[in-house]
Amino acid sequence: MLVTSKELLLDAQKNDYAVGAFNTNNLEITHAIVRAAEAKRAPILIQISAGAMKYAGVEFITMIVAKAAREATIPVAIHLDHGPDFKTVMVALRAGFTSIMRDASSLPFDENVAEVRKVVEACHALGIPVEAEIGTLGGVEEHVVVSERDALMSDPDECARFAEAGGFDFLAVAIGNAHGFYKGEPKLDFDRLAAIRSKVSIPLVLHGASGIPDHQITRAVESGICKINIDTEIRDAMIRTIQKFTQENPNQIDPRKVLAPAIDAMQAVVERKIEIFRSAGRA
Ligand code: G3H
Ligand code: ZN
Repeated sequence: MLVTSKELLLDAQKNDYAVGAFNTNNLEITHAIVRAAEAKRAPILIQISAGAMKYAGVEFITMIVAKAAREATIPVAIHLDHGPDFKTVMVALRAGFTSIMRDASSLPFDENVAEVRKVVEACHALGIPVEAEIGTLGGVEEHVVVSERDALMSDPDECARFAEAGGFDFLAVAIGNAHGFYKGEPKLDFDRLAAIRSKVSIPLVLHGASGIPDHQITRAVESGICKINIDTEIRDAMIRTIQKFTQENPNQIDPRKVLAPAIDAMQAVVERKIEIFRSAGRA
């Protein structure tokens, strides 16, 4: 069933688990995500980015995801991932998204607050929750010196002021996480996460979770992360499986035959994540 993300994340916060937020671009990825969530009886968010909107067409991708969400036997929210501007937020709302992220984290503090507040006003009027971000994700490489690394991450006091001034529903934090695969083993800053948790009461979100070892994800969930974003590992499973299949079956030109094992591989990735996030059996 189609729901907003607010009820999902508040239940996760109350019961110490995290809801998986999985990115889609097309029918096959959407099927894989929903099949995994149904197999594991888990609530989920399906995320659509501005890039996915551009690739598939807003109406097409929303119709696919909304149909899947409505028919699903578990709760599903349709989430705008990294909303780049007010216009994209409006397009998403009109298309029927039930959860919005406005990512103005690259702007200075006051501008980030102003951008987010504008979106919060519009979304809350429609009963749609909003995620915002502070700090810088990605580019936090091993060679970066500690003071620079610190400067890029979310500052706990600033997080508190941001949540207070922004009036949004969920806060995405930068604690050593990065998008895409990591170079070397990522090290989440759990002291920083604990400090943020002690100063911010709304649910916290972890982006860039592909490639973070299971034990760190478990600790992040235990430390108050309520939504975890996965994109890269799904893409990787899809493309590697297609590559392997076409190498082994060079004469197979039926796309349904080529894509079926890729859907299974993506489903397996999502099922595993759901287990680690402790959201299995919560639907
Ligand atoms: O917003 C999307 C996620 O943060 C994706 O992160 O590249 O680690 O899968 P990922
Ligand atoms: Zn992200």
